[in-house]
Amino acid sequence: MTLCYQAEHNKAKLAEAGQLLKNGGTVVFPTETVYGLGANGLDGAAVKKIFKAKGRPSDNPLILHITTRAWLDKLIVEAPPILEALIKTFWPGPLTLVLKKSALVPDIVTAGLDTVAVRMPSHPVARAIIAAADLPIAAPSANLSGSPSPTKAAHVIADMMGRVDMIIDDGDVVHGLESTVLDISGEVPILLRPGAVTYEQLVSVCGQVQLDPTMMVHSTTAKPRSPGMKYRHYAPRAEVFVVSLEQTADEVSAHIKAFEEKGYKVLYVDYSAEQLANQLFALFRRADADGYDIILVRAVATDQIGLAVMNRLLKAANYRIL
Ligand code: TXA
Ligand code: MG
Repeated sequence: MTLCYQAEHNKAKLAEAGQLLKNGGTVVFPTETVYGLGANGLDGAAVKKIFKAKGRPSDNPLILHITTRAWLDKLIVEAPPILEALIKTFWPGPLTLVLKKSALVPDIVTAGLDTVAVRMPSHPVARAIIAAADLPIAAPSANLSGSPSPTKAAHVIADMMGRVDMIIDDGDVVHGLESTVLDISGEVPILLRPGAVTYEQLVSVCGQVQLDPTMMVHSTTAKPRSPGMKYRHYAPRAEVFVVSLEQTADEVSAHIKAFEEKGYKVLYVDYSAEQLANQLFALFRRADADGYDIILVRAVATDQIGLAVMNRLLKAANYRIL
């Protein structure tokens, strides 16, 4: 049985959701980035339900969500010097930090890695639920594995109804792309997944930030440091192609015509980076629902939020660029 509550009209249910998490149940809740599918991050059996509900490969580690600094200190064994400045600048918010894990964190959460990913969300509903549970809550995006992350309650209902104990509906999320993931467990911070906290913002705090070499290019040799990045993620059923910025309007029209002559239903999207960040996943789901075969998306510059947009877009397109 899945219980569905609308957050605004059921504030009391948020404490109940926290209690459910405490008792080993699964709850889908909104965060400022995308909807998350939560379970008690210290309870291996509860975390197992997340992998089952999503159909997620067990070698893909989860992020622990907290609302207090005290919990962070229990989850990690050492605090690198840059930690304080990062927390002060970006928490609560869409930044996930990867740090050396303590023995408290079950292996199923980290897929056996010696590091743990931790994030402090800013969304009031997420915070109320996590605070009520008073536990670190493991929560991946609340989509079926391989589908685009859910940015609207309708996406969650389509993917998770009947697979989780409770769904807290709060309409549309704010950002629309998953959190930035920054590994600070080594000498130099490494950006594993770009997001709403931008590379430029991180450099302004850390001085130096490396980019995971597999972030924007398809690599058969380099292994992504963030295991989740190796999967064909974020992809709709339709075939996605990136239309490079060099293509003229005439060239774009010729591509569309060529696909249509083959009998394909084509969707062409030319949005700003900010619009794409917010709408890309919803567009993918909408295009599938409406039976599109081909989605052509005009590229955006890879500065600021554009880096995260192009990272998700290139993956969805399997690195095919026109
Ligand atoms: O915005 C978000 O981060 C959302 C909301 C719900 O908080 N969550 C989310 O979780 O996107 P998920 O599971 O879809 O993505 C987690 C990413 C994956 O790419 C995973 O490989 C990486 O974080 N990750 C988790 N633990 C890691 C670790 N110890 N080392 C490196 N990467 C890690
Ligand atoms: Mg995900």
